[in-house]
Amino acid sequence: MIKYSLITGSAGLLGRQHATALLELNYNIVITDIDKAGLEKTFIYLKKLHPTKKIIKSLMDVSSSNSIKKNIKNLRKKKIIINNLINNAAIDSKVSKKNKKKNNKFENFDLNIWNKEIKVGLTGAMLCSKIVGSDMVKNKIKGNIVNIASDLSVISPNQNIYKYKNNKFTKPVTYSVIKHGIVGLTKYLSTYWAQSNIKVNSLSPGSVLNNQPKEFQKRIKKLIPMNRLANSNEYKGAIKFLCCDDSSYMTGQNLVIDGGRSVW
Ligand SMILES: NC(=O)c1ccc[n+]([C@@H]2O[C@H](COP(=O)([O-])OP(=O)(O)OC[C@H]3O[C@@H](n4cnc5c(N)ncnc54)[C@H](O)[C@@H]3O)[C@@H](O)[C@H]2O)c1
Repeated sequence: MIKYSLITGSAGLLGRQHATALLELNYNIVITDIDKAGLEKTFIYLKKLHPTKKIIKSLMDVSSSNSIKKNIKNLRKKKIIINNLINNAAIDSKVSKKNKKKNNKFENFDLNIWNKEIKVGLTGAMLCSKIVGSDMVKNKIKGNIVNIASDLSVISPNQNIYKYKNNKFTKPVTYSVIKHGIVGLTKYLSTYWAQSNIKVNSLSPGSVLNNQPKEFQKRIKKLIPMNRLANSNEYKGAIKFLCCDDSSYMTGQNLVIDGGRSVW
């Protein structure tokens, strides 16, 4: 069987970087997302960078067992098995015109939003781990699961950084619950599969620079000892480390890379 690494939510800002990191290790990759156009763009971007590498793109909804199973079945037809799984997909409630109105205040928090975000960010990671991880174990594959959490997996959001001018956005409770849950899932699976040759760790990025409003940047920088947001390529080294033998004795850990924010 041919080994590939699979990244969920590959069409987004960090998914593309995780994919690049694994290609730099000479790994074969499967990029997946629900965003067809975004996935195509990412595929073209990666192929330009690494024209000779094996890259497969596939639509996959992490919140659907059927979608994940279908993907694994299709890969198996090509004699492909996944040995690195990056659970990266999530819904991030950003400050947008749409949710400015809703503002996400806990007192009014909409149960539909709770269910929708948890279904992707937390249940999605559990389902992918269950289906892909079980397949690794069944086939005695040495593998890695990397769950993408956040600095908000270890600290509470500072709501003051979202409130300026007319913005009344509140970082939603779902984000904290999902990211703390991701760390719980990581610890659980790390011991569950510790003797099955599967390492399970999480990576917790701090806020990544992505055209955020200047006022937001000014406020968040004050909370970060390094006084800057992360660049999107500053997690590639960690992904490589967690997906190779350099981390052979590391499992169940949450690697926090946040410019020092969570220790201040
Ligand atoms: N960007 C940051 O500042 C930051 C900081 C800390 C943690 N993170 C975490 O890193 C990960 C990636 O973040 P990002 O900034 O690249 O986000 P992003 O919004 O750019 O990308 C997320 C991707 O997930 C996909 N997605 C949404 N629902 C899906 C589903 N049901 N199935 C499959 N894919 C689905 C989206 O289409 C999108 O391409 C997330 O888990 C996020 O919480 C990001």
